[in-house]
Amino acid sequence: MRYLVAGGAGFVGSHVVLALLDAGHTVVVLDNFSTGHRDAIPAGVQSHDVDLIDYEATAQIVAQGPWDGVFHFAALSLVGASMQDPFHYLRQNYLTSMNLIQACTAHGVKKIVFSSTAALFGGPERPDPIAETALIQPGSPYGESKFMIERVLHWADQIYGLKSACLRYFNAAGADPKGRAGEDHRPETHLIPLTIDAVLGRRPALKLFGLDYPTKDGSCVRDYIHVTDLADAHIRVLDHIHDHSVVYNLGNGRGYSNLEVIQSVERVSGKKVPWEPAPRRLGDPAVLVADSTTLRQKTGWSPCWGELDKIVETAFVWRQNNPGGYKA
Ligand SMILES: NC(=O)c1ccc[n+]([C@@H]2O[C@H](COP(=O)([O-])OP(=O)(O)OC[C@H]3O[C@@H](n4cnc5c(N)ncnc54)[C@H](O)[C@@H]3O)[C@@H](O)[C@H]2O)c1
Repeated sequence: MRYLVAGGAGFVGSHVVLALLDAGHTVVVLDNFSTGHRDAIPAGVQSHDVDLIDYEATAQIVAQGPWDGVFHFAALSLVGASMQDPFHYLRQNYLTSMNLIQACTAHGVKKIVFSSTAALFGGPERPDPIAETALIQPGSPYGESKFMIERVLHWADQIYGLKSACLRYFNAAGADPKGRAGEDHRPETHLIPLTIDAVLGRRPALKLFGLDYPTKDGSCVRDYIHVTDLADAHIRVLDHIHDHSVVYNLGNGRGYSNLEVIQSVERVSGKKVPWEPAPRRLGDPAVLVADSTTLRQKTGWSPCWGELDKIVETAFVWRQNNPGGYKA
């Protein structure tokens, strides 16, 4: 099979590229390398340096099919930055995705898998765990932009028959267990790589925002899903969207607190993590855990790397072996 991966040089996209190659498929990457890394693309994989904001350039690549499916990971994805610059986020994520989706409908693509987000569930009445039926109430322009794209995909199916899987991820984490890829966001905002860098002495003491939440130890609880499990779900879901589109929540289903992440990094590294308490951040919910029952039942997917220590260990090994991340 032959797949086009938009955003394949980024964290999640590069792991899906590896999973597709491991399964014997041919992959072509489209990326503008704004947050992704050329070195994240495995040798021999064709890549196109294209910005999705350019419809003609995007359509030219999509026209080089046939594709058995398209994966769409490309986005601006910092919640805080989207609060600072809402129109840029809304415009950029919406228009770039519209361009890719329109090009897919124009060039006979039958299936697309889209990276949506748990940030759709921003309201105060969030259930625990969060199923697909929970109220959509994005807490940021970033979350809103992803919902807008889900709606574009709805109409692309209704009018053009483009089948889609919108996968609403929770916190992607970990690294390729074979050490071929890892997490290198710049700036890094995710707790696990930040904690690892703190224990490796590559950054000052970690700030832990809020220790007075109504949780087991007072710190926030999040659902960390190993990026290899995430990649597996993407490939499985393709086989289930021949004749209908789907929207699934995609997480590990287990909540780990911030303090548990610190303890895990201490177990894996054998060292104390330097950290200090800080006040709560505005808008941080106490608990965010996915109910992925529907995805599990429909596709047979289940996480193989669900234990926190396994997630942390793969991330730790990658960051230890790649002190500067991917080459600049
Ligand atoms: N990482 C997470 O925990 C998480 C959680 C929920 C949702 N998501 C979503 O999953 C997707 C992947 O996340 P990630 O962590 O791998 O992000 P990332 O920033 O590492 O990867 C995004 C990739 O898309 C490329 N890109 C961005 N804008 C582009 C454009 N206009 N044209 C072409 N390429 C472009 C970047 O260069 C990068 O390679 C994103 O859409 C994100 O919103 C991620």
